[in-house]
Amino acid sequence: ARHLLGIEHIAPDEITTLLDLAETYVDLNRSTDKHDNALQGLTQINMFFENSTRTQASFELAGKRLGADVMNMHMQASSVKKGETLIDTALTLNAMHPDLLVVRHPDSGAVNLLAQKVNCAVLNAGDGRHEHPTQALLDALTIRRAKGRLHRLTVAICGDIAHSRVARSNIWLLGKMENRVRLVGPPTLMPSGAADWGVEVYDDMKEGLKDADVVMMLRLQKERMDGAFIPSEREYFHRYGLDAAKLDNAKEDAIVMHPGPMNRGVEIDGTIADDINRSVIQDQVEMGVAVRMAAMKLLADNLKAARSAPKEVA
Ligand code: CP
Repeated sequence: ARHLLGIEHIAPDEITTLLDLAETYVDLNRSTDKHDNALQGLTQINMFFENSTRTQASFELAGKRLGADVMNMHMQASSVKKGETLIDTALTLNAMHPDLLVVRHPDSGAVNLLAQKVNCAVLNAGDGRHEHPTQALLDALTIRRAKGRLHRLTVAICGDIAHSRVARSNIWLLGKMENRVRLVGPPTLMPSGAADWGVEVYDDMKEGLKDADVVMMLRLQKERMDGAFIPSEREYFHRYGLDAAKLDNAKEDAIVMHPGPMNRGVEIDGTIADDINRSVIQDQVEMGVAVRMAAMKLLADNLKAARSAPKEVA
């Protein structure tokens, strides 16, 4: 593929290939010399139109460790603030010959649109509530390492499903790899068509978590709620926040995940998040660098192959 825009159109064997490559980068990142030259000579531009800690930092580190020239656009200080559109911004940067564009945008579909206008590889770092493909891939690598497999697992994704691109990318990925996916949350935060997504839908944590292998908690995304129903945090934690009593319904060796940023005491009890016997939240962050290195290396290989292919004569 030329771009990484979502999990929806990726085949299961491509997911496995990417995760296998990412495993080698986990080892590299744990070594003293963390460098490789897979992206040497290539230019990577990171454009984040929305706040980020994990995704921005790990894409930057990933590019630098693979030898790319990495530039971070500070969108708050860019000409977007003077009214320049997303497409004009992309065309402007495209004229500087980047090879990889990493883009996060608050609007669903914005990254796909941008990818049609440029002639480099585009990686979606999260668009609105649509997709966050590298998050699902890093979650998959974390699960595979913790559980020893990435199939026939029961995964409960809990909380604000309606506004979550993480949930959507994970539903695609876990479904393609033949897992049983449950969505657990209040009906007001459950998309109306969720029951048609090949998942089971619950509004009760005790039932939804029963015998789960993986419990994935999501943040309450108030910034995307447009003044719609926002539950009180106390009430929300009581009914849907992950605490020891609710986690007891999952399997004894169930792992706890959260993509971050976390709101402790809202969707997850801080004690559970910090329990190194159950929580793999810091592993998810570590896997994020390795997965993003693998994604960029594979796209760069495709880009180089396309550029060196003989041109068709009209
Ligand atoms: N999980 C995630 O995307 O985190 P950031 O918003 O900090 O990048």
